[in-house]
Amino acid sequence: MSKIVLITGASSGFGKIIAEKLSDDGFIVYGTSRNPNKYPSPKKYKLLKFDITSFKDSSKLVETILSENKKIDILINNAGVGFSGPIEEISIEDIKRVFDTNFFGQIDLIQKVLPVMRKNNYGLIINITSIAGFHGVPFVSTYCASKASMEFLGEALNMEIKRFGIRVVNIAPGDYNTEIKVNRQDTLLSKKSPYYEVYKSLINQWSLNMNNSRNPVEIANLISKIVKKKNPRIHYVLGPFLQKISITLKKILPEKIYERLLMNHYKL
Ligand SMILES: NC(=O)c1ccc[n+]([C@@H]2O[C@H](COP(=O)([O-])OP(=O)(O)OC[C@H]3O[C@@H](n4cnc5c(N)ncnc54)[C@H](OP(=O)(O)O)[C@@H]3O)[C@@H](O)[C@H]2O)c1
Repeated sequence: MSKIVLITGASSGFGKIIAEKLSDDGFIVYGTSRNPNKYPSPKKYKLLKFDITSFKDSSKLVETILSENKKIDILINNAGVGFSGPIEEISIEDIKRVFDTNFFGQIDLIQKVLPVMRKNNYGLIINITSIAGFHGVPFVSTYCASKASMEFLGEALNMEIKRFGIRVVNIAPGDYNTEIKVNRQDTLLSKKSPYYEVYKSLINQWSLNMNNSRNPVEIANLISKIVKKKNPRIHYVLGPFLQKISITLKKILPEKIYERLLMNHYKL
């Protein structure tokens, strides 16, 4: 019987391409979107209405899939929101929204899916984290913090649920050319803000970088391989060489030198 996949945020970007790839591979794929009607019926997979920050909807989502298939084999925690702003000027409401989407909502769904996977003695949970979760990037602090939180959560969870035949994989991408470049939420600053000039030039630079970034199909191809592995790794990092190597550099360089490198990179 085909494996059943649930992937959050399958209306655009990574989620859409992963959902298409896994459907082509023969999996039965359920994707989610807050506004599925905006994306006229994807032919290869079902797109169900779901807002990950509305915790009451996760049970219904899981029940809908179970009523059609009796199991969920693979959960891909992909839905996420990009957010930037100087820590001094971002609102607690915005930070909570970032964490509800990128962290608490993901845990809520994991909690709803785990009993189903335990019953089947099989499951794979893939978290789409970020290279940004391996170090603090100036003006992207809360996004980094939410992704770092998922990295550690995934590591811990893997050890808790291995005994039930369930595995966790964290995939940390660098910059990829998805709709995140338009969906990302940047904090609006007053021209009087002490951060205005430096922040404005950074977000302009990020937008330029994102337009020239890598093809997200790389992530879909990687996931297509991982879901067929008996013994996948816990961490996969994919992206531009400089972003990948930054993880190693942080481990081996003296911290002040690493900080200087980052600050030079961001022209701070
Ligand atoms: N692109 C990159 O360079 C990059 C790098 C590292 C990590 N990532 C991560 O990759 C994941 C996918 O991002 P992407 O680049 O593909 O961006 P994207 O094209 O903007 O896709 C984001 C997806 O998340 C969904 N989503 C957003 N808020 C949601 C909510 N409250 N409830 C349910 N779904 C929600 C969106 O669906 P609807 O709007 O239809 O609801 C959309 O399908 C994110 O977790 C992101 O942090 C991206």
